[in-house]
Formats: sequence, C-alpha cells, structure tokens
Amino acid sequence: MAELNQLSEDFNQYLSKKIEVKDPVNLYQPIKYILDLGGKRIRPLLVLLATDLFESDYKNAFPAALAVEVFHNFTLIHDDIMDSASLRRGKPTVHHKWNENIGILSGDAMLIQAYSFIEEYPDDIYRKIMKVFNKTAMEVCEGQQYDMDFEQLQDVSINQYLDMIKLKTSVLLASAFEIGAIIANASDNDRKNIYNFGLNLGLAFQIQDDYLDTFGDEKSFGKKIGGDIIENKKTFLYLMALQNSNSEDQLLLKALYKNDDDIAKIKNVSQFFKDKQIPDLTQKSIELYTNEAFSFVDKLSLSSEKKEILKNLGLNLMNRSV
Ligand code: IPE
Ligand code: IPE
Ligand code: MG
Ligand code: MG
Ligand code: MG
Repeated sequence: MAELNQLSEDFNQYLSKKIEVKDPVNLYQPIKYILDLGGKRIRPLLVLLATDLFESDYKNAFPAALAVEVFHNFTLIHDDIMDSASLRRGKPTVHHKWNENIGILSGDAMLIQAYSFIEEYPDDIYRKIMKVFNKTAMEVCEGQQYDMDFEQLQDVSINQYLDMIKLKTSVLLASAFEIGAIIANASDNDRKNIYNFGLNLGLAFQIQDDYLDTFGDEKSFGKKIGGDIIENKKTFLYLMALQNSNSEDQLLLKALYKNDDDIAKIKNVSQFFKDKQIPDLTQKSIELYTNEAFSFVDKLSLSSEKKEILKNLGLNLMNRSV
C-alpha cells in the first residue's frame, strides 16, 4: 500500500511531463494554465487509489488518472463560461484571462486529449474504460444543462436537485473509482460498490461546494463567494431555505433572488440562509450522504485497513475548506 501523498506526488510529476505548450500557443497555453493552477486533484487520486487498493501497480493508472483530471479541467473551463465566473483556484478564469472563444476551443482540445490518454491501454481494458468514460461524459453534459435550466425555474424540488448534482458532479467521482478498479481487474461487484461509494461521496461533495460558494473563504476556496447567488443557482442552500420557510418567507427569498444589485443580493440572501439555520442543516446533510457512501465501502472485498483509508478520505473531503 502506497501513502496517499506518494500517489499525488507521483501523479503530479507524470502530469507535468505530459502537458506541454506548442503552437498554436493560444490553444495550448490555456490548457497548461488551468492545469498548473492545480486544485485538489482529487479525481486522479481516486483512480490511482482504486488501482492500488485492488492490488495492481498504481503507475498503471497514470494515463487514466490524467484523462479524468484533464476532462475535469475541461468541464471547469466551460463551466466558468456558463456560470460567468471570473475566479478559479484564486486566479482569473480562462475566458477572463483570454476570451470565451479561446476557452471553448481549449476546452474542446482537452476533451480530445483526455480520450487520447486512454489509448495507452490494451484493447480489453481500453474498451471497458471508454464505456464508463463515455457514459459519464454525456451525463455531465446532462447535469450541466439541468443546472442551467434550473436558473430559470421557480420551482425545483430537492429530488430534482439531487438528480442534477448526481449528473454534473457525482458520476465523475464515481467513475474515477470505477476506472481504477477496472485497471486492477477488480470483480464486477467491487466495481459497482466503489462506483456507488463515489456517487454518494459526490453528492456530499457538491453540497459542500454549494455551502462553500456562500459561506466559504474566498482565499482558500479560490472562487468568488456568492457566485451561485448572483447566477440564481438552485443550490442546496436555496432549496433547503425554501423548504424551511412559510409561504410568506418563501416569497421574500424569491424576491431577494431577483435583486439586480449583486452586493446587496449576496448579503441579504446569505443572511436569510443564516436566519433559517441553513449552514447547520447543510452540514448535517453532507454528513448524511458521507455516511450513506460509507455503507458501500463496507460491501467491498477489501481488508478493514483498506476500508479505513477510503473512509478517511471521505471524512477529509467532508471537512474541507477548499
Ligand atoms: C469543482 O471541483 C467542481 C465541482 C464539481 C464542485 P473541485 O472542487 O474538485 O475543483 P478543483 O479541481 O479542486 O479545483
Ligand atoms: C460544477 O458545478 C460541475 C462541473 C464543472 C461539471 P459548479 O458550477 O458548482 O462548479 P464550481 O463551483 O464552478 O467549481
Ligand atoms: Mg461553476
Ligand atoms: Mg456550474
Ligand atoms: Mg459550485
């Protein structure tokens, strides 16, 4: 068993060897820029960890881990255009530093790069990875469309929200685990259970992301605080606040969400959330989905020591501020 930070360090070295700038620089420079900003690199870690836990050499998982991280970063460039976001990982977003056209095309190129990294695998593994990858990539598009559709909708239920975040966020964490398991030739049952672990962890992860978008610290979180409120996102916080309000307060929150003055809007909506104890309720839900995720860890055919590693990872994500 390798240490987690060993996996991360080795992966970072692999990534920096594989990502280079060539002509036309306006296509490749933004790719290197977003990847050099780093981020948590959680998805490649999940790929490597699953391969390692199911007893294969984690180095075999480098190309797939890179594919997943490059795909993730592609979605971030396009997501920042869709969300009109100016800050990512504490630095200007690609479309702010360059422009939207460059963000679109560099993102497209990253999707193609992600696919080409998977070409390194032998045919049988390649086909298995591609099947998971393609399904996931299409689901992420579906989730992103729902996320944008919901901006315009007055009534979105918590269940619709959960379906949406499962698509836009959870499936990629889930398939990162599953792809790692595929590389190690794990059993179908283990593949399924580690996927479901990732899926539930992903729900907790996105709810936490929603929480930090309003109540996080801009310096560590690296994104503009209040961005979701400005964009009228139907976040977990917003939907929980509606659910915990009488009809009069519901109207008030909906009116606050219509304010064109961004600063006042963020201030008033955050205060409304606090008055309704939403920060506390949200943290409880994050715990709930993390514990739900752990029930799938218990089903894995792994030693209790290895299960502990997965659970600790879940707990660390639950308590993150970045
Ligand atoms: C951001 O993902 C997008 C979401 C799905 C919430 P991360 O929080 O993993 O971002 P980085 O890669 O660490 O910057
Ligand atoms: C991210 O959702 C989902 C994807 C990038 C596919 P968000 O829009 O909440 O992600 P951040 O907060 O901008 O990272
Ligand atoms: Mg966004
Ligand atoms: Mg978004
Ligand atoms: Mg977010």
